[in-house]
Amino acid sequence: MIDLRAHWRIGPVEVPTRLVLAPMAGVSVQAFRRQGRRYGAGLVCSEMVSCAGIEHGNERTLGYLRVAEDEHPLAIQLFGSDPRMLANAAKMVEAVGADIVDVNFGCPVRKVTKTGAGATLLEDPDLACRIVESVAAAVDVPVTVKLRRGLANGSRACLELGPRLVDAGAASLTLHPRSAQQMYTGTADHSLTAELVSLVDVPVVASGDVTSRARAQTVLATTGAEAVMVGRGAQGNPWALREIVDGNGAEASREEIVAELVLFAREAVRELGERRASGFLKKFYGWYLGGGRFPRAFRQELLQLDSNEEVERRLLAAAPGAIPLLEELEAEVQTGEEMTLELAVSIYGGG
Ligand SMILES: Cc1cc2nc3c(=O)[nH]c(=O)nc-3n(C[C@H](O)[C@H](O)[C@H](O)COP(=O)(O)O)c2cc1C
Repeated sequence: MIDLRAHWRIGPVEVPTRLVLAPMAGVSVQAFRRQGRRYGAGLVCSEMVSCAGIEHGNERTLGYLRVAEDEHPLAIQLFGSDPRMLANAAKMVEAVGADIVDVNFGCPVRKVTKTGAGATLLEDPDLACRIVESVAAAVDVPVTVKLRRGLANGSRACLELGPRLVDAGAASLTLHPRSAQQMYTGTADHSLTAELVSLVDVPVVASGDVTSRARAQTVLATTGAEAVMVGRGAQGNPWALREIVDGNGAEASREEIVAELVLFAREAVRELGERRASGFLKKFYGWYLGGGRFPRAFRQELLQLDSNEEVERRLLAAAPGAIPLLEELEAEVQTGEEMTLELAVSIYGGG
């Protein structure tokens, strides 16, 4: 059995567990990251931040990134294709307290790839290396890279590129071993993760299809990766993180679910503002309340309500026992000082 509570390091940054919460555009807001830390993620990662959004002014965004005191260690992920602009963005990210700057070489979404960013860089190793060199030279914190296996199905581009990125200064690599073409279909082929581990002398993080402790154990044991990253499995389900790290697979009660969801929604409103948050939160109702936890009709009803306040009232009426739990949570998760990064958060997710 592999101890998921074992510490490991990315350069000088100590990561307290072997579970990393995935960067997910449109999902990994501060509320998600802070919740992930509470449930056992040793490292959390922001959504993709565009180094060009502000300059071009045409990026659709979810607003700006906010960093709270209790998120650390935190990786902030950048995407772009211009080494100089990425280096400048990296300095800004470091200034708001990123412990790690992560660069996205995996996003398969056309809006991103057509600009030469994201997964496109998997097939442009010279530029990819120049980006990593330039970013690593600009900041004191470690620079890491998140990759897909390659652009086309069957591609093994990540195995050629990975060692070169390490030579260029990458302190860790995360591999999501699907091709960009695959998007999220099929399965993540972690035999490539094992190959990558054998080729580089920095920690490798395995991303893709880890949803349970059993799967995490298998992936760590068969790949030699330092940690697993969990994305979709944690959507509306922080309890999955607890099960993976501690083996505590207790089903969350209705009251716990409602308390976490209401806290999440309150934090999202604080972070994104009332209007943005209400659109953002809709998918979370399905994630939290689905899977047989609450009747479908109840979820539909929430989607019809006009304000976040009404949703909260309806949720608490459905599970009044959540009120004291919510009060405890509110007391536990004081926000404290926050830093705001004046760079746009992209909603064009993927990686
Ligand atoms: C909605 C969504 C948004 C994503 N956004 C990003 C992103 O901004 N940056 C990134 O590197 N990966 C992104 N990913 C990929 C995840 O980080 C992860 O590698 C992938 O989902 C596989 O892991 P999973 O099976 O645990 O979800 C995104 C995935 C999803 C589902």
